[in-house]
Amino acid sequence: RGPLRVALLGCGVVGSEVVRLLREQADDLAARVGTPLELAGVAVRRPERVRAGVDPALVTTDAQGLVTRDDVDIVVEVIGGIEPARTLMLEAMKTGKSVVTANKALLAEDGATLFAAAREYGADLYYEASVAGAIPLLRPLRESLVGDHVHRVLGIVNGTTNYILDQMDSNGAGFNEALEEAQALGYAEADPTADVEGFDAAAKAAILAQLAFHTPVTAADVHREGITEVSAADVAGAKGMDCVVKLLAICERVPSDGGAQDGRNGRGVSVRVYPAMIPRSHPLASVREAYNAVFVEAESAGSLMFYGAGAGGAPTASAVLGDLVAVARNVVGGTPGPVEVTYAKLPVLPMGET
Ligand code: HSE
Repeated sequence: RGPLRVALLGCGVVGSEVVRLLREQADDLAARVGTPLELAGVAVRRPERVRAGVDPALVTTDAQGLVTRDDVDIVVEVIGGIEPARTLMLEAMKTGKSVVTANKALLAEDGATLFAAAREYGADLYYEASVAGAIPLLRPLRESLVGDHVHRVLGIVNGTTNYILDQMDSNGAGFNEALEEAQALGYAEADPTADVEGFDAAAKAAILAQLAFHTPVTAADVHREGITEVSAADVAGAKGMDCVVKLLAICERVPSDGGAQDGRNGRGVSVRVYPAMIPRSHPLASVREAYNAVFVEAESAGSLMFYGAGAGGAPTASAVLGDLVAVARNVVGGTPGPVEVTYAKLPVLPMGET
């Protein structure tokens, strides 16, 4: 067959890296897929802001027109946010395209609509880049561990807040100064409130819980506290006790209270995000800068640790490209995509009931 044509929605920190990798690794990618991947168009809101290295002839403001074009096979969405991202991805799937997205906010708020569309139209929907940047975590949960029984997923899933807390701990930096650095390094969300108030980590926790426990979990189900109340004195106090403050995401099954009818699933699941003091000897304490680390505890596998770059253009683009190759191989091989991830319907318990 001829080249597979890729439409890119969004060309910011991550999108521009996707463009670079598609260009620089074109030969390798073609060999891995079995046919070249060709950029069909790049939809942006403000063409004047598109970075160097993106062919201006490919840039358009008509995202809707781009995703429905007949000569597009796969859509990559890195705009973020709920709309217009949701409508564009639904349009893409409706017109027979598979979708790769990094959009944690949308998946955590209304993933069900996207999954239903993927099922209905037989499209692939891959979203490895939505959680923990470069770290392969979602496909291990969705595929490698799907035969196991996951009890707990716990870790650091927001690079910006980890960067801020790390700077406060290691060199006594102020909160705002550290946040500005994280923004300059391309780690923070467009609106960094999503990072520092814990919304970004909560969205990722919802996605992780859903995959780990095969049950629907939305961002609204997640108990969330951010780091805006963490002061320099709190960080120094923790240091005095040989501890560090980290923003943790914790997804776990809540065990049965004995005699209940809930069997191996327990009473339900609990999903929470909050700043916690952890001993400096704990592996999570050594997670510096914008790195992420996640432990997965499963019945047969035991405890697994995933660690790596959790934010930033190139690391996140690596995850996008991995999904793109996987989806492209499915297009070439004609393998059907969607897998049901929420066959269980477990209650998500509020904090007080866990
Ligand atoms: N703002 C996010 C973070 C980007 O800091 O982790 C990666 O999802």
